[in-house]
Amino acid sequence: MDQTISEIIRFTGVAEDRLFPTTYGRTALLLALKSVPVRGREVIIPAFTCPVAVLGAVIESGGIPVFVDINLKNLNFDRHDLRQKITKSTAAIISHHYFGMANPEVVINEHIARKHGLVHIEDCAHSLGAQFQGCSVGKIGDLAVYSFSKNMISPQGGLLQCNSGELLEKIQTLYNQNSAGRITGLLANVDFFIFFCRLLIVKGLFESVNTRFKPNLLPYRVPPLLYMPFRFADILLKTQHSSGRFYSVSREDVLKDPSTVDIKMTGFQKYIIHSRIRLLHQMNAKRRNIAERLDRIVPHFFLQGNDQRFVYTNYVLCTYDKAKVLSLAKKASILFIETWPVRGKYWKEQNTKNVEKLKREVLLLNISPYWSEKEIQEVENFLYKNKTLFFNPPG
Ligand SMILES: Cc1ncc(COP(=O)(O)O)c(C=O)c1O
Repeated sequence: MDQTISEIIRFTGVAEDRLFPTTYGRTALLLALKSVPVRGREVIIPAFTCPVAVLGAVIESGGIPVFVDINLKNLNFDRHDLRQKITKSTAAIISHHYFGMANPEVVINEHIARKHGLVHIEDCAHSLGAQFQGCSVGKIGDLAVYSFSKNMISPQGGLLQCNSGELLEKIQTLYNQNSAGRITGLLANVDFFIFFCRLLIVKGLFESVNTRFKPNLLPYRVPPLLYMPFRFADILLKTQHSSGRFYSVSREDVLKDPSTVDIKMTGFQKYIIHSRIRLLHQMNAKRRNIAERLDRIVPHFFLQGNDQRFVYTNYVLCTYDKAKVLSLAKKASILFIETWPVRGKYWKEQNTKNVEKLKREVLLLNISPYWSEKEIQEVENFLYKNKTLFFNPPG
């Protein structure tokens, strides 16, 4: 068996013939949607989602995105809105496990999907390694997609997991039809460049737990000036392998024929992911440990239930004054990031009542398993000092 796959199976617990390693999480989603197929039909997605990756995949597969508002208590679909949005034309529904959490409500989404004969896709892009009732996320829907670049430093990479006997053959055919990832794309691909920058920042490459850098120099942060020329090259050369492809989709593309996008994970990605994923259990445990400490100061958006195990890809906080927190954090060299719809193209239909609220109040703290004890304390002190700026999440 492919060694990378055998490492991946330790997380997914699913047989090899049901796993399809892809270039990105978004291409895994694209493969999933093409297998349904969703062309010319509606795909239900939460309004609170990544406009580039998720929306891009829906559009690229010829699907028509339908946005459903989210429930702030559980970050799942607003059930009333969901019921209203399902029509005869609906083909699929995409549930989300946000920011390293495990969303128990996917069970309800699964019931709804069964009742209406829809294909249910679990988007686990942020939550590789998260568990619910002792099982890894991604076991409930017909299909599940993962990304290897969210809680791991990797040259991108994703995975489609097929839990449905009916869709398996179709996915195998589509996957085998796709050419292996082209090397040409690599040269101009900004994502690979970013990956190498991350590795340079994380001195000692793979086992760099002891590196010392301020929290704002997380391995996730590469100055835009360094990579912008590559991004332009990406777009100019239209490298199909790159995520740049997804930056150029627009509403008008919905009805157009999608071009072929490289879907299969490249050998290079497999090689690196193999060495990274072996550390993931350890990294996730470190993130959990840091999150537990922060939870005592300012609670995370969700309380982790006894039957859940989060991986805290981001620590999610609610604040009364986002601008103030961001400016104070900058001074303290602590990296907070804003959630969607801040970056990328957001469709106006995505600006629902609750998404607007999240946009105003939610901030993500990029927890790094590479933080030293001193750095963890710096973050703890920052939260103590500014505790009054935060409030308990609605749940
Ligand atoms: C919710 C969600 N799903 C899927 C993806 C796709 O992951 P990738 O970046 O590996 O394509 C992302 C990435 O931003 C995401 O936020």
